[in-house]
Formats: sequence, structure tokens, C-alpha cells
Amino acid sequence: MAVRSLAYVRVAAKDLTAWRAFGEQILGLAAVASDDPNVLLLRMDDRPWRFRIERSDHDRLLAAGLEFTTEADFQAALNSLRSAGVELTSGTPDGAQARAVRDYVTCADPSGNPLELCWGHVVTGTPFVSPVGTSHFVTDDGGMGHVVLPALKLKETRAFYLKHLGFGDSDEMRIPIEGGSLGLHFLHAAGPRHHTVAVGEFPHPAGLIHVMIEAPALDDVGLALDRALKAGHHLSATLGRHTNDKMVSFYVRSPSGFDVEYGCGGLLTPDWSTFTPTITQKEDLWGHKWDFGH
Ligand SMILES: [Fe+2]
Repeated sequence: MAVRSLAYVRVAAKDLTAWRAFGEQILGLAAVASDDPNVLLLRMDDRPWRFRIERSDHDRLLAAGLEFTTEADFQAALNSLRSAGVELTSGTPDGAQARAVRDYVTCADPSGNPLELCWGHVVTGTPFVSPVGTSHFVTDDGGMGHVVLPALKLKETRAFYLKHLGFGDSDEMRIPIEGGSLGLHFLHAAGPRHHTVAVGEFPHPAGLIHVMIEAPALDDVGLALDRALKAGHHLSATLGRHTNDKMVSFYVRSPSGFDVEYGCGGLLTPDWSTFTPTITQKEDLWGHKWDFGH
């Protein structure tokens, strides 16, 4: 009944023009032609899209889409959620079509993060072509990347993903702050990515701390960093290598106020049965100088 991977992210955004430029010219994603001027779809592989940016009067995460491998896994998770009294809203045929999935439900984790649980997906059958020449993104069984979600109810939120959605612990950290520390749990899905969801004990005005996408090579990361610097985007973290998932990445502020981690070389674990969860003391092997800035 485990979630396999992050399928997609839906975002409410004030400025779709800024998002299109950011998505295409900085991240190297491909904007999809659409009849709807209020929706921007950004593609990164053979799926119709992975980012759905929807025009709004505010900037906020609308949903993290978590996908199951089979309908049986999907239904088992729904049963587990129902038996625990979690409120589920069934998807509609139109909604499934808009999300390019076979079926989905919406719910929220105990910290209020909006989730869409889904299974089955549309395949375009046409190649992804990046407008800046990025050859491809690392998706496949690992999904589109990972999200780090704010979780003020940290303990209950971690338990929710473990108990109902089949996640497992990958790593745990405590970030020192004045007078104490804040917890951060990294959770793996059934797919090989080190973490698909992480939950951190701190709030975020956009409801999303960051979303990570992965390019195939260090040169792709360097080129994206050059593009971000040239365009004057705020870098929330310099280039660095995380201790836990070994990702070499930088963090750039998106037009909606949350960060996008753009990385390569993330750890893949094909067999979780022999993996031992860790507690990491130092967040980065090197780099990642943070500037939360404006
Ligand atoms: Fe990350």
C-alpha cells in the first residue's frame, strides 16, 4: 500500500508570466501549449506535465500529488485513512483528466498539507524537449523529485505518512535554533529516491519549503546555476552536497516564494529492506550556504 513516488505538484500563483520564464529559462522545463490562460503546465519527461501552476490572487502549494503503483495499493491506503477517520474527497472524472491520472482523492496530513493521492498516469508518447537543452530529468521510478513540507505537528505528521501511506524513515535531523532545535524527518516511498517527502517543524507562508528536481549531470546543475545568477534570481542556498541523500544542488527562489532545489547525483536505494535509517548531525558535506533573504 505504499506510495511509490511524487507524481506532480500543483501551485496557486499570482504571476504565470514569471513562472513560465522561471520554469523554461532557469529550470529548463517545457511549457505545454494550453487553451486555458489561467493554467501553466510544465513538462519534464514523458508525462503531460509535472508542475501545474494555476492563476490565483495568492501564492501557495495547492497539492503534492503522491502516486501508488497499483489500484490495489491506492485502495488499501484509502481504507487505512478511512478507518483512521481521515477526511477524503473523491476525485471526479474531469479532475482525473485534468491531473492526467486514472483516479485520485484529496486529503490533508495532520499539519494541514494538501495531498492528492493517485494511481495510473497518462503517457504522452512524444519526447520531452527542454527549451535550454537539458537532455532529460531523472524521474522514472523515483518520480519527479521530492517535497519538503511544513509540519508543526511533526510527530503526528511523520506517523501519518508511515502508517497510512507506507513511507519509511530515511533520515532525521535537528536544526539548532536559539534556545532549542527543530526536527526534520526524511521519508522514503517505495521508489528508490532517498526521500520523496520530508517534513520540517517550521512554518512556510507558501505551504511548501522546497521541491527538488534532479538533472542527470553536474554540468546541468552548473548551467542552471549560471542561468539563475544571470537572471538575478534569489539563491536561497549556494551549491553544496547534502550529507543524507548525497545530492549536489543549489536552491533558487521560485516566483511563488518557495524554493526549488535543482540537483544531481541523488542517492538511489533499489532495495529498502536492507536500508538502515540514519540520524544526520551535519546537514551538508560541503556548501549550501543559506540565505533565506527577502
Ligand atoms: Fe531537498
